[in-house]
Amino acid sequence: MRILLDKFTKKFDDTVVINDMDLEIKDGELMALLGPSGCGKSTTLFSICGIYQCSGGRILFGDRDVSNVSSQQRNVGVVFQNYALYPHMSIYENIAFPLMVKKMDAAQIKKEVHAIAKLVHIGDLLERRPSQLSGGQQQRVALCRALVRRPDVLLLDEPLANLDAKLRLEMRSEIRRIQQETGITAILVTHDQVEAMSMCDRIALMDEGKVLQVTTPNDMYHNPQTDFVASFLGNPPIAFLEGEVAGNQVLLNGSQLKVALPSSIRQPDNGTKVRLGVRPELVGTDRGNAVAGRISFIETQGRENLYDLTLDNGAVLRSIQAVRSDISMGQTANWNIDTERVLVFDTNGQRLL
Ligand SMILES: Nc1ncnc2c1ncn2[C@@H]1O[C@H](COP(=O)(O)OP(=O)(O)OP(=O)(O)O)[C@@H](O)[C@H]1O
Ligand SMILES: [Mg+2]
Repeated sequence: MRILLDKFTKKFDDTVVINDMDLEIKDGELMALLGPSGCGKSTTLFSICGIYQCSGGRILFGDRDVSNVSSQQRNVGVVFQNYALYPHMSIYENIAFPLMVKKMDAAQIKKEVHAIAKLVHIGDLLERRPSQLSGGQQQRVALCRALVRRPDVLLLDEPLANLDAKLRLEMRSEIRRIQQETGITAILVTHDQVEAMSMCDRIALMDEGKVLQVTTPNDMYHNPQTDFVASFLGNPPIAFLEGEVAGNQVLLNGSQLKVALPSSIRQPDNGTKVRLGVRPELVGTDRGNAVAGRISFIETQGRENLYDLTLDNGAVLRSIQAVRSDISMGQTANWNIDTERVLVFDTNGQRLL
């Protein structure tokens, strides 16, 4: 079921939280709403769910305008961070509850609960109480409860935030598997870029109630339209170098260092102030433009190390490389930047192409 937000606006009293948002989630797609705390992700999700009413614009499911339809009538399944299972009920009863509310007959309920529990891999836990399950198992039950009514749309608000790192990893791929097997259209709200990148077909990156860019994880990583988007994706994050265009190079501020502009971009005028976005995998490569600096930080990550290279003007480049025994703290290094893959932004943060 396609979901369309058409100039969707949400205010609380006089405070505009979402202003004129346009967003389409395609049928069968898993879309991430990604953005910093307070940017309006949950507000958007609650409005799609019907918990909040729109203050302006429309929300469509397929071709049907659901803006004024109650939450119950929208046929959505929802999973929240604190999945709040009913503690006094068995797992079976927890999952069956939405169907009992709908007054489905007992035999049919049994069939539906067993089918969904099998899909979500908790078929052998149905007799237990929530307190007898692990966090990950409880989250699976919450997912079953959301899916058992066969909703048109699945809405997930930070569903993995309460799980430990290992379980989170496992549930990431599990939610993706279940979403793909059911073919359900789904929205995942998260502030975790890794979660959004690894689970979703596309990401809508939000800030201050606006969608900044909507595209696939890969495209958003390689082709961010603004420096904000570039800095939101990637771990360790992208580093920025400020400078001024001189010919086909950028002279870094307060520095003798020059960095070549990528040959693919339209040459900005001499003197144009720019921000160069340099991802850690572009530093210490075997091609590009060498810059001198001092190793100011080394972090072991197992297979690779993370190195900080502090330049003469105090700017810091990060580098991810296979562990090198020839590099130690405080030493100088002359490392290449793969300048053809550097991202160039103007001083307003807009990408220059
Ligand atoms: N019921 C409300 N009344 C007034 N303001 C609200 C209400 N709910 C949310 N807001 C405000 O709307 C903005 C967006 O909140 P929202 O909960 O949607 O953010 P979020 O992106 O989900 O953040 P987080 O990642 O922290 O969950 C915030 O500034 C918040 O204070
Ligand atoms: Mg939220």
